[in-house]
Amino acid sequence: MGMISANQIEIHKTTSSRLSQTDFHNLGFGKIFSDHMLVCDYHNGAWEKPQIVPFQNLSLSPATNFIHYGQSIFEGLKAFKCEDGKIRVFRPDANFNRMNLSAERLCMPQIPKEIFIDGLKELLLLEKDWIPTAEGSSMYIRPFMFSLDEEIRVRASDTYKFMIILSPSGKYYAAPVKVLVERQYVRAPKGGLGAAKTAANYAASLYPAKLAQQKGYDQLIWTDSTEHRYIEEAGTMNFMFVINDTLVTPVLNDSILAGITRDSILTLAREWGMKVEERKVSIEEVLQAAEKGLLQDAFGSGTAAVVSPIAVISDQGKEYVLPPVESRSFSLKIAEELKKIRMGLTPDTHGWVTTI
Ligand code: COI
Repeated sequence: MGMISANQIEIHKTTSSRLSQTDFHNLGFGKIFSDHMLVCDYHNGAWEKPQIVPFQNLSLSPATNFIHYGQSIFEGLKAFKCEDGKIRVFRPDANFNRMNLSAERLCMPQIPKEIFIDGLKELLLLEKDWIPTAEGSSMYIRPFMFSLDEEIRVRASDTYKFMIILSPSGKYYAAPVKVLVERQYVRAPKGGLGAAKTAANYAASLYPAKLAQQKGYDQLIWTDSTEHRYIEEAGTMNFMFVINDTLVTPVLNDSILAGITRDSILTLAREWGMKVEERKVSIEEVLQAAEKGLLQDAFGSGTAAVVSPIAVISDQGKEYVLPPVESRSFSLKIAEELKKIRMGLTPDTHGWVTTI
């Protein structure tokens, strides 16, 4: 039966919850979805009233614009059920802002806060029993928007659908990752879509990633599209290195996604008085530091990946084995601090946490 919530989101509850049949001990990442989803359509230049409805398949015309031309953007954020019984969401405003930047780059309409943030809060409240509590698990939140016009001509659509689905999930990377330096293919060229969180960037990564996986690597270190010399990102995460006690990370440009975990780590490291450098980082610099024993830490940062240690970097047939994970004082400390902030176990001095 339909009901209207305080902020005018219409809620249609399922009559057959899947919660009791869900195995919370074997969640994996992004494979299981909660009972409900948020849907909101954009027609005639305006957003309609958002609805929360049972999780279900969509019915779309085969001519739907995004299927052919990729007007499709998304975000990823996480909610946690904490020891005090409250639900905490990490930096939803940052995801909201980034989604609207992606929307602008892809000629899509801006999403109002009342739909993204208030809609998310309402959905999480309804699905609170789906939030996992095991160590390393969270409710992975996937907001996304895609174009709906039914026409084969290449042009920006006039109509769109915004949705939020929720996936109780475990860790994205269960073990330290082995990465291969990519010197031929490009994730995103200069002037391209790399700074937007859009489907095309992920599509571009699949074939080179498959080749790397066939060689035994989990991920690629994408390099710049002109010289293949400077480190960009991993596609699923940004890269950070501790070289000679300095935290070094590639400076943002229009082919790197501005990670929210990246920003959080840089903010905390600066507050701790650590030397931080955001600049162009060549692969040679990192590999030479590894050879000289100056590379103390190397990890990927991301919402899904959180802080994922890099175990091995391979470049041009040579493997560089990095220091044991137990010795990595910075990544261990930063991962612990981020966890405490997200779980409400330390004061949230940055206003990063939204408590529901
Ligand atoms: C995230 O970290 O939330 C992302 O969207 C990355 C994706 C590859 C899972």
